[in-house]
Amino acid sequence: PAIEYELEAPVSVEYHDSIGSTNDRARELAATGATDVAVVADEQVGGRGRLERAWSAPSGGVWLSLLTRPKITPARAPLYTLAASVATARAAREAGVDARIKWPNDVVVPVGEDGEYRKLAGILTEMEGEMDRVEWIAVGIGVNANIDAADLPETATTIREEAGDVDRRRFVQRLLEELAEYRTDLESVVPAWRELALTLGQRVRVERPSGELVGDAVDITDSGALVVETADGNETVAAGDCEHLRP
Ligand code: BTN
Repeated sequence: PAIEYELEAPVSVEYHDSIGSTNDRARELAATGATDVAVVADEQVGGRGRLERAWSAPSGGVWLSLLTRPKITPARAPLYTLAASVATARAAREAGVDARIKWPNDVVVPVGEDGEYRKLAGILTEMEGEMDRVEWIAVGIGVNANIDAADLPETATTIREEAGDVDRRRFVQRLLEELAEYRTDLESVVPAWRELALTLGQRVRVERPSGELVGDAVDITDSGALVVETADGNETVAAGDCEHLRP
């Protein structure tokens, strides 16, 4: 295999040279009752992004989905996604990349001083459960690792481009270890997220289900919602897509 995943992870690891989507595989495993499994692939041929977008996932990346069954309510599930972005940004920083986070969970590398960036990694969380209880959660993490930036969309960057190739085995191990720590300490996610945030202090346009909002991103709440200061006062946005505007 292209990556030897004989790693000492806090979960079991299933490795694929090539797969449709690691998130689809995690869903399949969830249906069999499995838990605490990371599905990792060298290449995905049907990678999926947020908002039904396709996600380019050529050979050389870190394409991973972590299936767990945390004892939490669905309202707290966004914290898992934030945890994944924090763990990913930290692992990338250790690899020498100036990785930051764009709300809610894009890992980006700043370009210049105006809040512009290129995307290094994205997170796609999927789950099943009832109102009061999460049945399972699959956190999909896609990191543009050892890939030529020219092979990805223009808005993307890669670890290779920013800092040279990483040891993917160590990178994944590091990622899974840090995620395991947040499982027992979900409260520490938000302060860690704030430290890495590129979005705070930016002028933003947020697309949310109820419409568009423009203002200054001033904070995130304990549950990970973005606080936007507008001419009419502060608004809190639990979920949506955010764009940094020129100041
Ligand atoms: C985004 O739109 O920013 C989220 C991208 C998530 C991509 C990862 S790669 C591993 C996992 N499997 C998928 O099909 N998608 C996620």
